[in-house]
Amino acid sequence: MPIVRNKKIEVLYSAAEIAERNTELAEQIALGDLSNILVVSVLKGSFVFAADLMRAMYEAGLSPELEFISISSYGAGTEAGELVVLRDIESSVEGRDVLLIDDILESGKTMKFTRDLMMERGANKVAVVALLDKSMRRQTKISADYVGFECPDKFVVGYGMDAGHAFRELPFVGVVTGDA
Ligand code: IMP
Ligand code: MG
Repeated sequence: MPIVRNKKIEVLYSAAEIAERNTELAEQIALGDLSNILVVSVLKGSFVFAADLMRAMYEAGLSPELEFISISSYGAGTEAGELVVLRDIESSVEGRDVLLIDDILESGKTMKFTRDLMMERGANKVAVVALLDKSMRRQTKISADYVGFECPDKFVVGYGMDAGHAFRELPFVGVVTGDA
């Protein structure tokens, strides 16, 4: 079991399993109905997944463009639970087919907010890909068009995902199980 920062980490999805799944996801996306794809990666958690999925998309014959957006529920002067854009994308999404990438779909609020925003801005289509789906936690009517893995109801770290800013660098997805 890997030990990082003096914590034992149980591996849920290994780097090899994730790589294999990314290839399958990219092939599914290539068979889907999106054209001239603009990938919008939701920071920070999805940056590793987005980087790998983009390259898998190349292997699947696609030529996506990339933007980043950062969404927060902690904006100055916002009500509890209200989401705001902390850092916005730079391209216009008007008439574009947008592929939103996030690390985890949990309550679904982040993805619903971001998808609605892209549609309001005139996107032609918005599809959602999530590496992990905690569907048992959903509070909004949203489902991902493409899902890497159904995730157990556990707090996961690694592959871009953090616990208190730590563990984003791990090449696998895991769960902190205790002190080493
Ligand atoms: P929601 O779908 O709006 O509830 O938010 C999902 C977001 O919460 C994800 O994009 C992650 O940033 C964060 N998140 C949810 N579960 C976890 C977890 O187990 N580990 C790390 N981040 C998580
Ligand atoms: Mg996130």
